Amino acid sequence: MTVPFLDLKTQYLQIKDEIDRELSEVLDTCHYVLGPKVAAFEEKFAGIAGTRHCIAVSSGTAAVHLMLWAADLEPGSGIILPPNTFTASAEGVVLAGHVPVFADVDRDTLNLSPDRVNELLKGSADSKGRPVDPKTGAVIRGILAVDLYGQPAALPELERIAGEYGLLLFEDACQAHDASREGRAAGSFGSAAAFSFYPGKNMGAFGEGGAVTTDSDDMAARARCLRDHGSREKYYYDFIGHNYRMSAFQGAVLGVKADRIHDWNDRRIRAASEYRRLLSGLPLELPEESGDVRHVYHLFAVHTPDRDELRAFLGERGVASGLHYPLPLHTQKAYAYLGYGKGDFPVSEWNSECNLTLPMFPDITAEQLQTVAQGIVEFFSGR
Ligand SMILES: Cc1ncc(COP(=O)(O)O)c(C=O)c1O
Repeated sequence: MTVPFLDLKTQYLQIKDEIDRELSEVLDTCHYVLGPKVAAFEEKFAGIAGTRHCIAVSSGTAAVHLMLWAADLEPGSGIILPPNTFTASAEGVVLAGHVPVFADVDRDTLNLSPDRVNELLKGSADSKGRPVDPKTGAVIRGILAVDLYGQPAALPELERIAGEYGLLLFEDACQAHDASREGRAAGSFGSAAAFSFYPGKNMGAFGEGGAVTTDSDDMAARARCLRDHGSREKYYYDFIGHNYRMSAFQGAVLGVKADRIHDWNDRRIRAASEYRRLLSGLPLELPEESGDVRHVYHLFAVHTPDRDELRAFLGERGVASGLHYPLPLHTQKAYAYLGYGKGDFPVSEWNSECNLTLPMFPDITAEQLQTVAQGIVEFFSGR
């Protein structure tokens, strides 16, 4: 039996009638961009993220950029974020005119470490006593936490730190739809959050999509305006904006999926606990949940120094796997200008060398989970 990394077709077939009906309504009305389907989806998704506003956009990358842009921080501000994330987290910072300031993650959750953030903020200050990035001298004005693999970061603690230093907290919740910490939904912490609806995400569009969620009326108004060329009224421009509008087809698909995301995540959580049972006792680190959290397992990541051999062994048996991510951002060519080097963030580097992400999707069957686990057990029994 082969096991795919994810299976989008099975999910589509379960909701085909409803999706097809929604899409044909878009075709009938010829309202292809924003419009009633996107507005209805925004309302539903604000409910999922627990915020007053949701601004649907054209991708998760656009969402990260837009939330930082709409925050209207001084140009060239330092924004603290982990290097152990998808490049779009840092791209959003740079596109908004700011400076990525990396801080390492905690070994158990692989999320931004409040201790490392505190150290950084205490480390250097300018003549006015404001925390600065020791590498570039940029005044630090924000923290961008990433809810990696579907587990919300230590957001209450980061909110407290942000408050202490007068910084804004942003959440990259692109992997964490319907996750929560201490009963608060991912997307509802800090000033604003960004979501991705890339097809492989827990809530995936049939193409590209994203959203910004926020409780701030000001940020929401600015984000809505910037998403559509800086205009509140057609052909009248308050700002230089962008075209980050969501397609109506994606709004229609996501409106259907919004009604099911909680159930689909429950099924991922059950699959994760089955993986834990099947893989216990092996020389393999399993994902840890920290605190009162709903981890929605966008990815189920295990760690072993024999990662490459294990991946090849599983591949030969038809079991797909992934690497998230093979190289942390601070050692990527694109970010070399910031002046970091290997050895700066040991936990992120360890993660990139040892992580392996296993097949995970709501419809993964007991047999498929067995096949993956059996391959891993065989691999270690031969060592
Ligand atoms: C953590 C994180 N941030 C941002 C993004 C960007 O989202 P998109 O691919 O929809 O542009 C992703 C998606 O891959 C992501 O995983």
